[in-house]
Amino acid sequence: MSSVLGTIFRTTTFGESHGKAVGCVVENCPAGLELKEEDIQPDLDRRKPGQSRITTQRKEPDTVSILSGTYQNKTTGAPISMVVYNEDQREKDYGNLEHVFRPSHADFTYHAKYGHRALTGGGRASARTTIGIVAAGAIAKKILSLKTNTVIAAYVSSIHKISLPLSFAIPEIGLLKREVEKNPVRCPDQKIAAEMEDLILQVSKEGDSVGGVIDLIIENPPVGLGSPTFDRLDALLASVMMGIPAVKGVEIGSGFSGSQMKGSEHNDAFYNDSGRIRTRSNFSGGIQGGISNGEPIYMRIAFKPTATIKKEQETVNDKGERVILRSAGRHDPCVLPRAVPIVEAAAALILTDQFLLNKFSKFENL
Ligand SMILES: Cc1cc2nc3c(=O)[nH]c(=O)nc-3n(C[C@H](O)[C@H](O)[C@H](O)COP(=O)(O)O)c2cc1C
Repeated sequence: MSSVLGTIFRTTTFGESHGKAVGCVVENCPAGLELKEEDIQPDLDRRKPGQSRITTQRKEPDTVSILSGTYQNKTTGAPISMVVYNEDQREKDYGNLEHVFRPSHADFTYHAKYGHRALTGGGRASARTTIGIVAAGAIAKKILSLKTNTVIAAYVSSIHKISLPLSFAIPEIGLLKREVEKNPVRCPDQKIAAEMEDLILQVSKEGDSVGGVIDLIIENPPVGLGSPTFDRLDALLASVMMGIPAVKGVEIGSGFSGSQMKGSEHNDAFYNDSGRIRTRSNFSGGIQGGISNGEPIYMRIAFKPTATIKKEQETVNDKGERVILRSAGRHDPCVLPRAVPIVEAAAALILTDQFLLNKFSKFENL
């Protein structure tokens, strides 16, 4: 069961939802970076459950401890291990699921593959495994902010059928980030965010769930990240996003809508901006030939509605018998508000890994 991400800046995540702890080990983080728990905790707080009335009411402080890899608050070059202890696990919530496969969750496939049920709240299929991604991602974000001008921002652009209008103009990225954190949905338009929040509360009362779309902007990425074949930057970003539980679709740049344009409309014309080669449009989403061209990278990530719902559903148990399931337990009626920091962290891990690898791209860089 592989849980490793990255080639050089390598993150291994561990732990299960209702086990003792979750966390990660980060290898090959360069020595000499100032690093304390306070660098990591803010993003974990944005991800943690129970932060508002539209998230799961499981109460977890999600307090991180750095166990190794730093000395006097500086990285040593040794593996950095970070742990978050689970405090509010309730295995009894899952008692009625012991032999039943929740529709569209990982229960059936986990059982078919490993021969046992990940009873502890979804085992490695649980979104608590993303704590390791967010913790490692906070280190990656710090490296990017100190060594590049790259800024990463994600926000909720739609929930079910409520979307930001096409006329929505993305503000300056610092302002965007502040607007996103002003409401529990993490949508930068406060009026649309209020509508989304009402919808999530309504479907939650009905024992149902909704999905939506998160938009991701990576501003000022270094030119030259990624490579032309399997480690294309777009492929790596798509892969890491598809690795987030409940993600069902990823678009980069013009995405599917680009397929309905002509080449003359879609091509991003180059121009010389005082010595820097730039493009007038950005349908490529900042990536051409698998390599970043320095323009902002745009992605859209589609999340399905949460699988576990209180409404009655038809399913089968592990004997193949028909069962009508009514799930108990605490669940997110919509996973998107908490997924925003996960998306940012996942992108930061890919960019940092590629940034470090890029040092080997030319002899003159050595
Ligand atoms: C932040 C976050 C929170 C989640 N919370 C829940 C939850 O409370 N209940 C649930 O059934 N699924 C939840 N999920 C999604 C499941 O983990 C996921 O649907 C499941 O592992 C099956 O994987 P798949 O949907 O990618 O096929 C959450 C996902 C994320 C990103």
